[in-house]
Amino acid sequence: MSAFWSGWIIFFVTLNWLLVTFLLIYGTRVPIPTYRDGTTGHVWAHGAIREGVRRLPMWWVVLSLVVIVFGTVYLFRYPGFGAFGGTQEWTSEERVQRHMAENEERLSLLFDRVRTESVDTLARDPQVIHAGQVLYEDNCAACHGANAGGNQVIGAPNLVDDAWLYGDSVEAIHTSLTKGRQGQMPALGSALGERGTRAVAAYVYEMNGRDWPREDLVAEGEELYASQCVACHGPEGKGKTAMGAPDLTDDSWLYGGRLEDIITSIRDGRSGVMPGWSERLREEEIRILTAWVRAGGPAQDTGGSSDTE
Ligand code: HEC
Ligand code: HEC
Repeated sequence: MSAFWSGWIIFFVTLNWLLVTFLLIYGTRVPIPTYRDGTTGHVWAHGAIREGVRRLPMWWVVLSLVVIVFGTVYLFRYPGFGAFGGTQEWTSEERVQRHMAENEERLSLLFDRVRTESVDTLARDPQVIHAGQVLYEDNCAACHGANAGGNQVIGAPNLVDDAWLYGDSVEAIHTSLTKGRQGQMPALGSALGERGTRAVAAYVYEMNGRDWPREDLVAEGEELYASQCVACHGPEGKGKTAMGAPDLTDDSWLYGGRLEDIITSIRDGRSGVMPGWSERLREEEIRILTAWVRAGGPAQDTGGSSDTE
């Protein structure tokens, strides 16, 4: 703060202090001329209302003095009086730095463990799971949902069920998090034609144990499936984790399981994008999240401790 502004503030604080103190002391003593009946002589409504005299109540005076004394002591000890820093030498910047250092120290204990122990050991550690929960809420919940149940609008998968695009191994999840993923379901509408698309969709619909009324259409779809889809989704529709092609028989859906949703997936293709986190999160944080996903997500968080908050 420049000397000018410091002086400016000191001037006004002092002026304010003097004024308030003067008013308080003077206000309790100033003589107010009154008539014999105790009124001031001011009248309203043709004499029906007359102004009396009320002194400041004692509690009010005492309270104000306490506030003035408190303010004076505060300005003496803490920053506020221009550039004068106060006798305590307290600064908000120093406080933030101290808190950050404390936090960093507590985190470093956690991170040491995260670096040395296996992800599966970490998945049983309540403190790690709690840290994972906080990281998840900050970075992932917007897409995968607060309960990690997924989001069918953008094809973000459910992370707490048994259906995995890329498998549930530590490596698969760690890779998904570090490098990100991009689903590649080609648009097959023009290759299949409208009827073909409907037919193969009806077949996929039936794969999930639901009956589609038109048997002829389903039979037609089965043939088309064998020629167009097997390469990625496998002969029985169980999917292939190597290419992130989902199981089409488990009634768990990235984009919804109604016939219309299935038709849209086949006709227009799908390409869900999972961003990579290697530049935004530390390796330790990615390991914590991997453990959190492996452990089963939000339901496993029992509170732990609040180290990462
Ligand atoms: C912008 C939205 C978005 C964000 C943010 C996001 N994800 Fe994803 N995630 C997706 C999508 C979409 C997919 C599916 C990718 C695909 O279709 O191949 C996915 C896939 C995954 C997979 C692979 C699932 C499987 O079945 O194999 C995991 C694990 C995952 N995300 C975890 C996370 C975690 C943990 C975070 C937070 C660090 C996160 N995601 C943040 C959208 C997102
Ligand atoms: C080149 C590989 C490939 C081929 C060929 C392919 N798919 Fe896919 N399919 C995928 C991938 C990968 C996804 C996941 C897309 C994503 O993650 O966004 C997918 C997604 C889907 C979905 C959405 C599933 C859900 O959970 O919402 C359906 C339905 C589907 N495919 C059906 C088919 C059918 C039927 C055919 C054949 C006509 C076919 N696919 C051909 C790779 C393929």
